[in-house]
Amino acid sequence: MDTVPTDEILHQLKRRCSILSGKPKRILLFGAPGCGKGTQSEWLNSELGLVHLSTGDILRSAIAQGSPVGVAAEKAIAEGKLIPDEVILTLVRKKFEEIGDAGFVLDGFPRTLNQAKGLDVILKDMRSEISCVLHLRVDDDTLIKRICGRRIHVPSGRAYHVDFKPPKVPDIDDITGERLVHRPDDNEESFVTRLNNYKKITQPVIDHYLSTGLLFQIDGSQSPDQVRKDIELLFQLGNVPEKGRSSV
Ligand code: AP5
Ligand code: MG
Repeated sequence: MDTVPTDEILHQLKRRCSILSGKPKRILLFGAPGCGKGTQSEWLNSELGLVHLSTGDILRSAIAQGSPVGVAAEKAIAEGKLIPDEVILTLVRKKFEEIGDAGFVLDGFPRTLNQAKGLDVILKDMRSEISCVLHLRVDDDTLIKRICGRRIHVPSGRAYHVDFKPPKVPDIDDITGERLVHRPDDNEESFVTRLNNYKKITQPVIDHYLSTGLLFQIDGSQSPDQVRKDIELLFQLGNVPEKGRSSV
């Protein structure tokens, strides 16, 4: 079997990581329902200043406001079904126009190959590009436990968990003091539909990014802090100088 020289591996790793060092960071977060996309987006937003763009949060706000998009999407979301690509792409393009040149973390988008192609067009129009794609991997049994115990604060999208991340006061948001809710799609039946959609429709989208060399796998089954550390390590690797580093 041929072996790849260590220098070559280091070179490839540095080349891939150097993509991450460019600022502002433009990150795609992928992973099954409950893998921790929203949880990790919180610190990427509060500490790195990246705009958190979650299509799920946008749709839930639209439902809370009773807007036409929200009214049309409410039943499908509760049942765990996907919203049509045209609707999602229109919402996302509008958000991108609002955020301009800022760094961002995309959570829950793109979810179909059509959406991924639509994103390519939007980014090209904005003269922007993705700096990395993070795939948070978690096994199915862990996902269902996370989903069933989750409580959220709808206006901000903040997520809690009755066991893994309880709020200071049960059912109350730590920051605003407002009530937390149980998402209507956080039940076993909708979860199965969401997970099946993820495996059938969204996973092929990850393959779309394989060839870009920007895709990084993260073990999302660890504690939230450890997942965060792994992401931070990836970013630090992206900042290593080209010379003078003997190991990674
Ligand atoms: P969306 O809101 O995006 O839901 P999702 O992708 O199913 O993901 P979740 O929000 O459920 O999980 P998450 O990964 O954010 O996990 P979280 O951090 O909260 O979409 C909802 C619906 O909207 C879709 O089903 C669809 O109908 C529609 N939709 C949205 N986008 C669409 C699109 N692009 N196209 C078409 N339709 C679209 O964590 C989960 C729980 O676990 C929390 O309680 C958290 O505290 C806990 N937790 C997190 N990390 C850890 C950890 N490391 N250890 C222990 N507990 C943890
Ligand atoms: Mg989420």
